[in-house]
Amino acid sequence: MYPTKNSLPEKTRERVITMLQERLTDSIDMALQAKQAHWNVKGPDFIALHELFDKVAEAAEDYVDLIAERIVQLGGIALGTLASLKERTTLPVYSVTIASGKEHVAALSHALASYGESVRDSIARAAEAGDADTADLLTEVSRGTDKWLWFVEAHGQSER
Ligand SMILES: [Fe+2]
Repeated sequence: MYPTKNSLPEKTRERVITMLQERLTDSIDMALQAKQAHWNVKGPDFIALHELFDKVAEAAEDYVDLIAERIVQLGGIALGTLASLKERTTLPVYSVTIASGKEHVAALSHALASYGESVRDSIARAAEAGDADTADLLTEVSRGTDKWLWFVEAHGQSER
């Protein structure tokens, strides 16, 4: 921990940093999974899904930045290299062999739902720890994630 004049107690900051690192790892994985879908999707809805999946990746990259910088503001070190992330993501493993729009919609909505669930859980943990600002930041992430889940899921909710 780095010293800071931030008035939150050290104990609160420590708890919140540990929790935020979990969400940072998930967010990096979320961005990579959306890129995986963006690059590899095929089929009649290609252009719509290719563009949508890139928007999801961009949103996740924004969350990565928000969360990493909050960790550092609280006196922590944001761990963002692939080597430091290994085996720590809580997201489901994304299949690298799927191709159709339907399969990518199913896989990415599964990832977004799982990611959103953990973020929602972390809002409560931040509030419990007494850090309203982190709870607010994560609420922004959660609200955005729900929106992207809707955008992706909508593709699978009607035949055409
Ligand atoms: Fe691209």
